[in-house]
Amino acid sequence: MKGVILAGGLATRLRPLTQVTNKHLLPIYNKPMIYYPLEAMQRAGIKEVLIITGPDHAGAFLNLLKSGDQFGLRLSYEIQQEAGGISQGIALSESFADEQKILVILGDNIFTYNLKNSVEKFEKKAKGAMVFAIKMPTESKQYGVVDLGENNKVLSIEEKPENPKSNLAQTGIYMYDNRVFEFIRKLKPSKRGELEVTDLNNFYVKEGAMECKIIDWWVDAGTSYDELLRANNFVAEKIKAGELQSL
Ligand code: G1P
Repeated sequence: MKGVILAGGLATRLRPLTQVTNKHLLPIYNKPMIYYPLEAMQRAGIKEVLIITGPDHAGAFLNLLKSGDQFGLRLSYEIQQEAGGISQGIALSESFADEQKILVILGDNIFTYNLKNSVEKFEKKAKGAMVFAIKMPTESKQYGVVDLGENNKVLSIEEKPENPKSNLAQTGIYMYDNRVFEFIRKLKPSKRGELEVTDLNNFYVKEGAMECKIIDWWVDAGTSYDELLRANNFVAEKIKAGELQSL
């Protein structure tokens, strides 16, 4: 399985912090944000990772991460010319994926859950997809919302629904078989003009091939100043309590 990290976008909600840099290079306590998904890839046993970023600050990613040696990873880079959604970003990894399955992580997702077991199980499956979700304190309208049936089978995923069916939010961690690229070609832009990851995931939901794993904690650090601050505080506390070790 190969790894794909999406680190594009303009992050206008974080201006002026993102005026002259990419949000995934902003600090989360003692490291740039992008280190967290990279370390998650490493812990998951992934060896080759494609970083997809926008054209403006791609050079800064190269200067910082270079070949990926420091993470024990082999890094490749791809440019997403415009911010057209998560599925549009994933589509850019088709030749890199080289017929293999992919693990996709959004570059601003901070979590410590070890994906290794899930990756190993998924590798053995003939086909399908998997999404990772988190229980929110209350039902949430700002994320994709997962309705879960028996045996971790997903019944539905709705993007930012008015009436959420559960308090399970879809995180930015996904695994797909290689049919993902065929499915993306069938997608149409949503109302916000993006190729949505939820629409993509629903191809798998419809055929009963989408599984969901619930993880313990997760912060979507790039959505607002408050979430960025929360991610910083959370990581700082975990490191000081010895609960989080850097690789
Ligand atoms: C995207 C997805 C959403 C998911 C979220 C996780 O939302 O569309 O389903 O819950 O990422 O970070 P966006 O950040 O594009 O609004």
